[in-house]
Amino acid sequence: MTDRKVITEEGQVISKSPPPLPSHIAMIMDGNGRWAEDRGAPREEGHRVGSEVVNRIVRCCRRWGLKHLTLYAFSEQNWGRPVDEVGALMTLLSQYLKEQREEMVERRIQLRAIGDLNKLPSWVREQLLAIIEETSKNQGMTLTLALSYGGREEIIQAIKSITSQVRRGELDPDHIDESMIQAHLYAPDIPPPDLIIRTSGEQRLSNFLLWQSAYAELDFLKLPWPEFTESHLHDACLRFAKRERRFGLTSAQMES
Ligand code: IPE
Ligand code: IPE
Ligand code: MG
Repeated sequence: MTDRKVITEEGQVISKSPPPLPSHIAMIMDGNGRWAEDRGAPREEGHRVGSEVVNRIVRCCRRWGLKHLTLYAFSEQNWGRPVDEVGALMTLLSQYLKEQREEMVERRIQLRAIGDLNKLPSWVREQLLAIIEETSKNQGMTLTLALSYGGREEIIQAIKSITSQVRRGELDPDHIDESMIQAHLYAPDIPPPDLIIRTSGEQRLSNFLLWQSAYAELDFLKLPWPEFTESHLHDACLRFAKRERRFGLTSAQMES
C-alpha cells in the first residue's frame, strides 16, 4: 500500500488522499442491461463492462484500506431471467474469478460469498470455493460476493436453523435474540454495512441484506453501474461522512 492517492485507472488524480471510509461498504451494482440497451448493444455487453468496473472498484477499495466490501452480483430472483443472460452472467463470473485469483492472493483480499451457492453451476461453485479457501487467511479486505443471494431467503434459512435447535431441545425460544439471528446469517462475522450504494436510479434494496441494512446509510446514484468510477465512490464516501447516524438516539446523546 505505497500510494494512497486517489487515481483512476486512466491516471487522473481525484484527490491526494483516500476519503474518510466507513468500515463496510455494500453496493447494488445495477443498470448494466439498460446501459447496453441504450447503446443498441446486447445486455450481456453491459454485464461485461460492469465486471471491468468491479475490478477497478475492488482495486480502489483495497488501495484505500477499506475493511469490508460486499457486492450484489446476482440475486436469487435473477435466476428467473432469460437462460442466455443467466448463462452469460455465470460465464462472466467464472472469468472474473479466473482473472482475479492471483490479484486477490497478492493483495491479501479475503474472498467470501453469501447466498444459496448450491444453485450455482458446479464449475463456477468449485472455482469460487477454491479461491475462498485459498484466500481464507488473508487479512487485507474482505470481498464478499452476494451470489444467488436473497435477504428474505437468508432470514428463512436462519429461522430454519434456529428452530431445528429448538426442536432438538438445545435452545430455549426465550433466548432467541438479535445476536443469535446474526450468528445464523451467511457471514455472521462480517459487520453490517455502514453504507449501501445503488446505481441505476432505482431507490430500493431488491432483497439485499435485509437484516443487515437496518441502520445502513443508503446512497442512490442515477448513473448505471458501467459508468461508476472511483470518483463517484469518493464522493459517496464524503457524503456518508457528513451524515449523522443516530441509531435511534438523539444528536446530543451521540455527541456525549
Ligand atoms: C445489474 O444490472 C446486474 C444484475 C442484476 C445481474 P441489470 O442487469 O439489472 O441491469 P438493468 O437494471 O436491467 O439495467
Ligand atoms: C438487484 O438488481 C440485483 C443485483 C444488482 C445483482 P435487479 O435489477 O435484479 O433488481 P430489480 O429487479 O430492479 O428490483
Ligand atoms: Mg437491474
